[in-house]
Amino acid sequence: MSYGSVFRDETKLDINYTPPELQHRNIQFKLLNEYFRHAIMTPGKMTQRVIITGKIGTGKTVLTQHFGRSITREAQQRHINLHYIHVNCRQNKGSFFLILQKIVAHFHPGFPKRGYSAEELLQTLMQILDDQNTYLIITLDELESLIQNEGSEPMYKLSRIEETRLKESRRLSLICILRELSWLSKLDASTRSTLQNNIIQLDSYTKTQLQDILNDRIKSAFKQGTVPFETVILAAELGEEEDGNARYAIELLWRAGKYTDAEGGKEVAPEHVRRAAGSVYSTMRKDEISTLDYHKKLFLLGIARRFQQTRSAHITTGEAEESYKIVCEEFDKKARGHTQLWKYMKELTTLGVIKAEPSPSNSVGKTTLIGLPRIAAVDLEKELNNMLKSTGEDTSDDN
Ligand SMILES: Nc1ncnc2c1ncn2[C@@H]1O[C@H](COP(=O)(O)OP(=O)(O)OP(=O)(O)O)[C@@H](O)[C@H]1O
Ligand SMILES: [Mg+2]
Repeated sequence: MSYGSVFRDETKLDINYTPPELQHRNIQFKLLNEYFRHAIMTPGKMTQRVIITGKIGTGKTVLTQHFGRSITREAQQRHINLHYIHVNCRQNKGSFFLILQKIVAHFHPGFPKRGYSAEELLQTLMQILDDQNTYLIITLDELESLIQNEGSEPMYKLSRIEETRLKESRRLSLICILRELSWLSKLDASTRSTLQNNIIQLDSYTKTQLQDILNDRIKSAFKQGTVPFETVILAAELGEEEDGNARYAIELLWRAGKYTDAEGGKEVAPEHVRRAAGSVYSTMRKDEISTLDYHKKLFLLGIARRFQQTRSAHITTGEAEESYKIVCEEFDKKARGHTQLWKYMKELTTLGVIKAEPSPSNSVGKTTLIGLPRIAAVDLEKELNNMLKSTGEDTSDDN
């Protein structure tokens, strides 16, 4: 980057950047290749379904992207027409229709956006694959969002589609990414059992593994000699405490680098990392929050405000609801009902933005308590205000 910066290339620390090398995921990478051996050896004979699971920032997305690149390269060398498509369910609002639309558009960019049901899109997709003699591996990333939004139906349809095509070649394989396997219980028994056979678990990274990941990234992102050993260790330690979250550790370093530049410093010191950790309103959450529907943002804004009025670590759902109603009045919007808010709360919990837990058993009546463990309410409010101002009401389907 510019003269006087510790960065060589900041984009290497971006959340959407895919590093050329994977650290410490060799076994899982090989396993994934093993599961898909037949796609290369005997294409069309069978399809595969694999689940990848692991906590936030454990490399689920990056692992599958690497795998996608490598298997399509290998297929190409063998003149097999194999495509890999990676779709993030959350970014597609957990809508089966939008997800399928994206997949069909991969083959036919001009395909009409209206006039087809999800069912028809799926049939269209199979037709395209047959016509082009193509095999396809789809990764459904952040699958919880699709299950939460549409239940077991989409997965059921995807699992069954091959079985209704008795004579044709097998063409469609799936990789499903879930942070928690408990989501499988929401699927019907037979879909669940076809999925459950192949599970690849990504364990949380240890401090030394995070150090290796960071060191590798530092080489391309920072100028030589600007990030001392102690700084890397501290960022890795903090990443380990955050459930072995590599994204968090990388983001800490990026922020620490920003602080260093702001001071005109030549070295990223541990103190910069500490300051980054204290102020991190993490960009990953920002990304997640920005894709929320309008009323979910209003609900979260209500929660953020309520937390600023209390010294307690929790608020009740009643208080959250009340606060949301006030926000709605202010924004001149009709408030959504109780059942809807309950759904919002579950979704925000899944995202890890809030924490919902039952109140202690000795208290009167049963209620759910909401916690805001990771983000300062002030920062959250500021962020939401910006987003709500810049986007206006999203008129798309939001349930
Ligand atoms: N083994 C690894 N080697 C190099 N970089 C890694 C590795 N694992 C993770 N990273 C980096 O850490 C960040 C988080 O990884 P990734 O996005 O794959 O996590 P995830 O498990 O998909 O998280 P989430 O549950 O939030 O979707 C990314 O920037 C990724 O490039
Ligand atoms: Mg991911």
